[in-house]
Amino acid sequence: HKDLLDVSQLSVAETLHLLDTATYFQEINTRPVKKVPTLKGKSVVLFFAEPSTRTKTSFDMAGKRLSADTFSLGGSSSSIVKGESLKDTALTLQAMNPDGIVIRHSSSGAAQFLAERLHCSVVNAGDGWHAHPTQALLDAFTLREQWGEFKGKTLTILGDIAHSRVARSNVLLLNKLGVNVRLCAPRTLLPMGVESWPVDVYGDLHKAVTGVDAVMCLRLQLERQAAGLLPDLREYSRRFCLTPDAMAKAKKDAKVLHPGPMNRGLEISSVLADADGSLVLNQVASGVAVRMAILYLHLMRPERSGDTR
Ligand code: CP
Repeated sequence: HKDLLDVSQLSVAETLHLLDTATYFQEINTRPVKKVPTLKGKSVVLFFAEPSTRTKTSFDMAGKRLSADTFSLGGSSSSIVKGESLKDTALTLQAMNPDGIVIRHSSSGAAQFLAERLHCSVVNAGDGWHAHPTQALLDAFTLREQWGEFKGKTLTILGDIAHSRVARSNVLLLNKLGVNVRLCAPRTLLPMGVESWPVDVYGDLHKAVTGVDAVMCLRLQLERQAAGLLPDLREYSRRFCLTPDAMAKAKKDAKVLHPGPMNRGLEISSVLADADGSLVLNQVASGVAVRMAILYLHLMRPERSGDTR
């Protein structure tokens, strides 16, 4: 594929190939010298119109470890603040002839908008509430490291699912890989049309985590509070914060994930975030390897040699 817009475009075989490629790069990330010349001469623009710590840094690190040149463009430091449109920003970047653009944007569909207009590869680093494919891929990679295989495993996604692009991409990908996915949230934080998703929906935390192999907590998006979209926080944490008491209902060696950033004490107890079963920092480490694989597979694709400006 020229672009990575969401996990829906990936077959199971393509997903596993990407995870296998990331396994190779994960080994490179443990070496004393972590740089390889694979993407020497390639250039990647990191266009983040929304804040990011993990995704932006790991794409930057991934590109640099593969010897690509990476260039950062932020929302507030770009001419977007002067009113330049997304289309003009994209065409301006294209005129500099990069090999790839990694974009995070608050509008659902922003990555696809670019992909349809640019000849370079476009990678979606999160668009609105729609999709966060590279997060879902790194979560799958992290789980495979622990589980070995996906089939027959059960995972609960807990929290603010309505506003979560992470949840959408993870449901699509994990279901495709054979994981039984449960959702747990107050009714007001479930997305419209959830009845048609391939998941089991729970309103009770303890029932939702009973017997599961892993729980993925999601951030309560506090920036939505002003819009009146959030429940009372004290009530929310009382009913939906993942605690050791609730996790005792899961399998003995069950894992805890969180894409970050975390609101400790609100959606996940600090004790669990730092416990042995927590994969939070494994997810961050996986992010570099998975994004190396994504850059490699998209920037080195054979048909690129036929690209013209
Ligand atoms: N998980 C994630 O996307 O984190 P950042 O917003 O820090 O990139």
